[in-house]
Amino acid sequence: MRKLKLGTSDAQVSALCLGLMNFGTRDSQELSYQLLDQYLQAGGSFLDTANCYSWWNQGGKGGESETLLGHYLKDRGNRDKLFIATKVGYTYPPVPTSLKAQLIIEECEKSLSRMGIDCIDLYYAHIDDRGTPLEESLGAFDKLHKAGKFRYLGASNLMAWRMEEARAISQASGQIGFCCIQQRFTYLRPNPNADFSLQRPVTTDLLDWCGQRGLTLLAYSPLLAGAYTRPDRSPGPQYASPDSDARLAVLRQVASELKATPNQVIYAWMLDQASPVIPLLAVGNAKQMKENLDSLNLKLSPDQLERLNQAGTTAK
Ligand SMILES: NC(=O)c1ccc[n+]([C@@H]2O[C@H](COP(=O)([O-])OP(=O)(O)OC[C@H]3O[C@@H](n4cnc5c(N)ncnc54)[C@H](OP(=O)(O)O)[C@@H]3O)[C@@H](O)[C@H]2O)c1
Repeated sequence: MRKLKLGTSDAQVSALCLGLMNFGTRDSQELSYQLLDQYLQAGGSFLDTANCYSWWNQGGKGGESETLLGHYLKDRGNRDKLFIATKVGYTYPPVPTSLKAQLIIEECEKSLSRMGIDCIDLYYAHIDDRGTPLEESLGAFDKLHKAGKFRYLGASNLMAWRMEEARAISQASGQIGFCCIQQRFTYLRPNPNADFSLQRPVTTDLLDWCGQRGLTLLAYSPLLAGAYTRPDRSPGPQYASPDSDARLAVLRQVASELKATPNQVIYAWMLDQASPVIPLLAVGNAKQMKENLDSLNLKLSPDQLERLNQAGTTAK
């Protein structure tokens, strides 16, 4: 699998990052191992989990995904071949949604212990905690980084102006700064003011900011849970609009020209942007995994890329 530079860091990461959100809760150990093996066999090495995954799934309390990954690393003896990302800041009761310094320090130790590793490759601030000064959170991350607990720092669910604020603080203090951002991003564009609770969708503002500052965007929920191809799933009211109808029509047209699926075209479209966007790949079975991994063989023509970029009714 081809690799891409991760934002302002010196790390090279797989073009598709495997999301482990349901591993160890909704997905059994057997299925999770099978999907991890399949992804690794395709040359992938970039894994994404979080301390809270996934307390909202049936039987979940949080920590199950990291724990399952820890077992996998031990059983396969392959920690050194992998680039592991995890996150802190989103609740898993009774741990609150917070980026207070003490919480970050404690949660980092718990994540390391659950995964049985000494150092996290990429540690994300999972949310924007407006109740804690950014200086406090960034100071705690810097302490952990200096202690060798993680290598690179990422943000998730922050608006562009908050990213710039964080950047200014890190630059002035000489402390570690965010090298990339993981945000909600798909081919359809959400309606203005669409509510995703603590999740933040990508805006043109953020895209521009990332391009100017050299940060990589990582896209979560790129396939809208399968809604592009499955009659049992819907994009939801946040995406119901003439703009979405117009974009869906172009997406389907391009997919048909390439004899590909809309899901595959979406991954290819993200990776073909002038500043490539790394999709979070998540699947429920081996067949979906194969379909999604095969998107890496898809080549959009300049005309197809342009049509996909320009589709829609929203003013650019
Ligand atoms: N930073 C954040 O705040 C945040 C938030 C959400 C997620 N994430 C990360 O992003 C990752 C991906 O998020 P997501 O699960 O929301 O992504 P998604 O791409 O929107 O949805 C993935 C789901 O879509 C379905 N699917 C995938 N490929 C398919 C195919 N070829 N055909 C039909 N259905 C298909 C599967 O559903 P079924 O499994 O139900 O079949 C799969 O689990 C997560 O694992 C997590 O690591 C981060």
